[in-house]
Amino acid sequence: MSRDEVCAALGALAAHRAELADRRTIDLFADPERFARFSLRLDDLLFDFSKHKANARTMELLVALARAAKVEERRAALFAGEKVNVTEHRPALHMALRNLDGGPILVDGKDVMPEVREVRARVAAFAEAVRSGAIRGARGDVLTDIVNIGIGGSDLGPAMAARALSPFCAPHLRMHFVSNVDGADLGDTLKGLDPTKTLFIVSSKTFTTQETMTNAASARKFVADALGEAAVADHFAAVSTRLDKVAEFGIRPDRVFGFWDWVGGRYSMWSAIGLSLVIAIGAQRFEDFLRGGQDIDQHFVSAPLDRNIPVVMALLGVWRRNLWNEPAHLVIPYDRRPARFPPYLPQLDRHATGSRAGLGAAPADMATGPFLFGEPGTNGQHAFFQLLHQGTDIAPIDFLVAAEPTDADAGHHALLVANCLAQSEAMMRGRSRAEVEDILRKQGLSPEEIEKLAPHKVFAGERPTSTFMYRRLDPRTLGRLVACYEHKVFVQSVVWDINPFDQWGVELGKELCNRLAPIVQDADRPTAGLDGSTAGLIGWRRVLAN
Ligand code: F6P
Repeated sequence: MSRDEVCAALGALAAHRAELADRRTIDLFADPERFARFSLRLDDLLFDFSKHKANARTMELLVALARAAKVEERRAALFAGEKVNVTEHRPALHMALRNLDGGPILVDGKDVMPEVREVRARVAAFAEAVRSGAIRGARGDVLTDIVNIGIGGSDLGPAMAARALSPFCAPHLRMHFVSNVDGADLGDTLKGLDPTKTLFIVSSKTFTTQETMTNAASARKFVADALGEAAVADHFAAVSTRLDKVAEFGIRPDRVFGFWDWVGGRYSMWSAIGLSLVIAIGAQRFEDFLRGGQDIDQHFVSAPLDRNIPVVMALLGVWRRNLWNEPAHLVIPYDRRPARFPPYLPQLDRHATGSRAGLGAAPADMATGPFLFGEPGTNGQHAFFQLLHQGTDIAPIDFLVAAEPTDADAGHHALLVANCLAQSEAMMRGRSRAEVEDILRKQGLSPEEIEKLAPHKVFAGERPTSTFMYRRLDPRTLGRLVACYEHKVFVQSVVWDINPFDQWGVELGKELCNRLAPIVQDADRPTAGLDGSTAGLIGWRRVLAN
């Protein structure tokens, strides 16, 4: 594909940006229809982007950019099961996992839906049996503690969702997620656990990941030491694409749940990798979560580009990243329970768009994924919002807020919503020097005091924000939100001409760790050949650890 048309579309956007530079976003609301025109709805889910410095012409040019980049054609290829993950020669068909009402989905000419349905049914049956107590530990105890051992995509999704959906979790179950190779992660978790009542789920697509295999071996020892080797079978389950490797570990075949290489790690929470979540919330609610994902798939393939939530999210991201050169993006849920949504998203998003290798021969010709982080409101307001309001760099923000609480106090919730709306208003409106001086004068300050204080109280405003508002954060809504971000990432990857489905960027560190681990573990191994800093740090550790 020639990138010339993309460059031309970007050029038009750059000229348009210059025209808009001095306009105030608040003035765009002179159009009484602005909120209706610059927000999108799918049932109760509303995506408001009216607080962006963007007008009808901006959206027209952004959609032209999407067309130039061939977003519609690439979307069709994605859904048709083409090998869009070109560096690993695989399709990316996580949509099949939430295809509850649709027809066949073909990979290499074979319909994958029968297998998807079969594994889903096995996962549901196993999860329900654990929840009801029909499946018990080796000594007949009801299993009350479920420990998912996995990392990256085999941890972040279920861990995020189990916490976000905690009001929907079975009250007699405690969910734990162990990921870090730091022994404190597993050690601290095991401290509170009774092995007779604990089920470990080893979740790993490859079943070779260092952190997961190290933690799984230690957990296995915990069970075997306490209950005997024979009890391991009753206290372990596994989710993987490598059934041969799972068998070597010694997990019973009826407790092994497979998935497929066309499910990328960061998209795998919709697959059997969601087992811990299914146990937590039950099979029916997990189906609601899948249905939320399906809602967005159907919307993504059918809505016109300018009324398509993931497409508009993506294009606004490109607008800010490439035309306004902003290197960071924040996601702030006004909800304590999805606290792990912001850390979950970077692996979905940065694993996908943190690349500079273009699909053509040349490096990507535009800046790609921004740094993405976040923290729930209102806490974030008291931590880093100062920088967002008055810092020298601008970072666009996505706010997420429910109209009503799932089960919390309604009075608290009204304040939570008010805080969310106040922040996005403040980010857009700011406060000018003249307004500040006026306020200070009314407070009775002298002209000299005003002169000194006023610059510190000025807010430039013009910080772009989008807001998702939905009825409440239930499984279906969480599914819709996750799928919106997934497809947003895909659309951006198309505009940036990068492969969003590989993650070679993590390989170098893994490779070097494999080389260094024996030298770190064995004080007699020479450090010759290492760079001076690495050798020096290993030497100093040897001094300290002696
Ligand atoms: O971070 C790299 C990665 O390969 C992710 O894609 C994956 O989710 C994670 O490591 C864990 O891999 P696995 O599920 O194979 O243990």
